[in-house]
Amino acid sequence: MSRITLIAAVGPNLELGRDGGLVYNIKADMRHFKDTTMGHPIIMGRKTFESFPKGALPGRRNIVITRNRDYTAPGIETAASLDEAITLASSTADEIMIIGGGAVYAEAIARADRLILTEVDDPCPDADTLFPEYRADWTLTDTTETVTDPATGLRYRFATYQRRH
Ligand SMILES: NC(=O)c1ccc[n+]([C@@H]2O[C@H](COP(=O)([O-])OP(=O)(O)OC[C@H]3O[C@@H](n4cnc5c(N)ncnc54)[C@H](OP(=O)(O)O)[C@@H]3O)[C@@H](O)[C@H]2O)c1
Repeated sequence: MSRITLIAAVGPNLELGRDGGLVYNIKADMRHFKDTTMGHPIIMGRKTFESFPKGALPGRRNIVITRNRDYTAPGIETAASLDEAITLASSTADEIMIIGGGAVYAEAIARADRLILTEVDDPCPDADTLFPEYRADWTLTDTTETVTDPATGLRYRFATYQRRH
């Protein structure tokens, strides 16, 4: 069975998104996301896919979950459920990355082996999409120092969690 990783940037109150876009835009986080997911299949909800300015992300199998059986776009495969998406992705990879958004993380966290989170210390009170509560069920196994993004002033760190047994 493939290892399932959820990767997300989350605020102190689990903030993820606002008005269909990201709440935090940190250049180093974008690089970290690209480096971590490159070469692995990525699974996402249809709304997250539609938030990408240039469509499918290169160098990765893009698997989009939607209930719309006619949905199609260049460079993607579609799946009608999370299970179907995981089955598709498992056929070619040992490691699957689930990249959002809120609806997909909420369902997928029960299936995940690992969380890779960019934890941002600054709250975003008008976020409308949240990451599921994770701190009680997951153990922090690795983290970087907290640093300040020079462009935005946001303070953040990269953290890895494994499920608590
Ligand atoms: N901070 C981060 O790291 C991060 C990462 C990703 C996204 N985001 C943000 O999160 C927000 C989007 O999240 P969201 O919760 O609104 O939407 P989403 O999870 O990206 O997509 C939801 C859509 O996915 C499909 N879907 C989800 N679960 C399904 C299931 N079990 N079976 C079949 N289809 C399913 C449905 O598509 P259909 O309606 O087509 O049926 C549903 O409307 C945006 O603001 C985005 O920027 C943040």
